Amino acid sequence: MNRQVDFLLTGIGQLVTADPGLGVGPLGLVERGVVAAADGTVVFAGPEASLPDLPVAPGCERMDAGGRAVVPGFVDAHTHLVFAGDRADEFAARLRGFGYEQALAAGGGIHRTVRETRAASDAELERATADRLVQAGINGTTTIEVKSGYGLTVDDERRSLEVMARLAARTPVDVVPTFLGAHLIPAEFADDRKAYIDLLEQEMLPACAPLAEFVDAFCDRGALTVAESRRVLAAGRRHGLKAKIHANELGPTGGAWLAAEQGCVSADHLLFLDHAEAAALASTGTVAVLLPGTSFLLRTGHVAPIRVLRETGVTLALGTDCNPGTCYCESMQLVIALACVHGGLTPEEALLAATSGAARAVGRADSAGRLTPGSACDLVVLHGRSYLDLAYHLGVNLAQVVVKRGRVVARDGVPLALLREPAEEPGG
Ligand code: NIG
Ligand code: FE
Repeated sequence: MNRQVDFLLTGIGQLVTADPGLGVGPLGLVERGVVAAADGTVVFAGPEASLPDLPVAPGCERMDAGGRAVVPGFVDAHTHLVFAGDRADEFAARLRGFGYEQALAAGGGIHRTVRETRAASDAELERATADRLVQAGINGTTTIEVKSGYGLTVDDERRSLEVMARLAARTPVDVVPTFLGAHLIPAEFADDRKAYIDLLEQEMLPACAPLAEFVDAFCDRGALTVAESRRVLAAGRRHGLKAKIHANELGPTGGAWLAAEQGCVSADHLLFLDHAEAAALASTGTVAVLLPGTSFLLRTGHVAPIRVLRETGVTLALGTDCNPGTCYCESMQLVIALACVHGGLTPEEALLAATSGAARAVGRADSAGRLTPGSACDLVVLHGRSYLDLAYHLGVNLAQVVVKRGRVVARDGVPLALLREPAEEPGG
């Protein structure tokens, strides 16, 4: 190892490596820890007492955590960041008992955000998405999956993916792009659903696949059927995309079976899941992405069955699901807390799901979600002395310092290096 250490964080009271081989228990806990990195990659994570004698670069960034806890940077495994407008009025109506599916059936819901997104200029869409990305970053998210899905035409889906690509070039946060042209059958195709799936397969995928890493489908009541979703996922895979699926969010609609059949990397939501479905996901290595912010805010009383998921040994991941309808939230800290108090996860399960589990769900298991030699040096110095604060100390931003690839990108809620100015303002 001849690379010189250019980032050195000492004085860590409690270091969560998320690598059981490096410390105690499933979180790989180390007391009085240190993290050293070179060129953005961890070269040492462990007890201060065992820090080897490493060559240190002259301009090395040295920080002392002052006894605070340090966790891997959060990986948000599921977001819909690219949208225009908002649906605060629908949210308020839901509080009065007008359900999410009612709004959708009445032409609101996703249909409305599609209208508002299509009407926005490129610059407006990029600005709105950038604002949400910065919110995620100052709350400790260092890798984020982002879906299209509010365009639903060839040009508008492609535009959403172009917004992601431009933002990915402006931010150190890893952006994992997903094509979700199968978010819904758009209103103009209501009478000929097959024609939309044909368009998606024959024109949208060729235009969008080069900008995406995953294909996704909203397979649920009021959205796509299992047969429609199967066509989309199979076509996406032919275009070289890995598959994900929104499954069993609104009802037991067969999406989880389809996830196993199609070898999806992840199946997301899973509020309605029986033992056999969970066992099928476990057998195909499909990660269960839980979105407790959504189940909390849908207010239907359904949550992903954690006991069944535990019994079958499915890998768990967490995401915010940040979107204007079911859950408008960029904070993985809040999601960890809700996973515990609403979803029934232990704080350890929730933290692993928000880091190493989520990294698996977005195809970044080798680089993100853990603080271990060879991984990206993405971490969060917490205000508290224990990772337990993430579940326990609600409603404040606990991220004192956010580090991405060995560089401080946010401190105390202030974005320091999360977003560069656009090279040139896109039109509009
Ligand atoms: O994951 N389920 C589909 N997509 C989102 C909701 C999107 C919206 O309502 O705008 C979700 O919950
Ligand atoms: Fe979603």
